[in-house]
Amino acid sequence: MHIRFESHRRRFVLALGAVGLATALYPRDVRAQAPKLRIGVIGSGHIGGAIGTLWVKSGHEVMFSARKVEEVKDLVASLGPLAHAGTVAEAIAFGDVVFVAVPYAALPQIGQDYGAALKGKVVLDATNAVAARDGAITEEATRDGIGVTSQKYLPGTRLVRAFNSMSNQIFTREANRPEPRMGVPIAGDDPQAVEVAAGLVRDAGFEPVVIGKLADAKRFQMGSPGFGQSVTAAELRQKLAPGS
Ligand SMILES: NC(=O)c1ccc[n+]([C@@H]2O[C@H](COP(=O)([O-])OP(=O)(O)OC[C@H]3O[C@@H](n4cnc5c(N)ncnc54)[C@H](OP(=O)(O)O)[C@@H]3O)[C@@H](O)[C@H]2O)c1
Repeated sequence: MHIRFESHRRRFVLALGAVGLATALYPRDVRAQAPKLRIGVIGSGHIGGAIGTLWVKSGHEVMFSARKVEEVKDLVASLGPLAHAGTVAEAIAFGDVVFVAVPYAALPQIGQDYGAALKGKVVLDATNAVAARDGAITEEATRDGIGVTSQKYLPGTRLVRAFNSMSNQIFTREANRPEPRMGVPIAGDDPQAVEVAAGLVRDAGFEPVVIGKLADAKRFQMGSPGFGQSVTAAELRQKLAPGS
């Protein structure tokens, strides 16, 4: 199993290189679909289950995890051979990319318990901080910006904010709609990780809209103009254009 993971890891590193090369050589609209990846999902409830399902349907291999693995077994059984159930540690080890979809207050514990395993991984972070559920950390995320705060609690990860801005029902309903597709805002500091995230947004059935760095993720965090906008990519760019 370890050898299988390692050889896959080498392929992923080569694929990342290819993405970087494609980024340099081709304009956005003629780039190839993202290579098929292994994705580990931490938190497989409403949003983790919904987005993970879209990735399985587009051919990616996904390991769904939660603290209680039995809770993801029905979902996995319904999705066929590309879907797996595992512990949080197993999902991190499995994933070329890790999708984090837990209550915001769980981030410090996840960073502490799995920091070494997560180091260097491309992490797509869909979390939102909600005072009623997450308590004091919400104030920090609101004050400092959620992207910067997530990166603080998941240090050493190549973090990209993605899939936080709409409900799981909207993502499920609007995925793969006829062009123009729904725009999904993303932001990150690591350009290659942002490219990987953009590919995974496309594969889930949407059009990625790169808003900027992690510090810019506040522009589509809860309560901001980019949050809750189920609009096309062009409309989203217009709404979030500087000065608008
Ligand atoms: N629901 C939406 O439409 C939506 C949309 C965009 C973003 N978000 C954000 O995404 C996050 C998840 O929301 P959700 O609605 O999907 O929540 P949810 O349905 O309650 O699912 C949360 C998942 O996280 C797991 N979990 C909780 N604490 C954990 C921990 N410490 N370690 C590992 N797994 C843990 C839960 O399983 P166990 O308790 O068994 O571990 C469960 O699988 C939140 O930050 C939310 O604000 C939600």
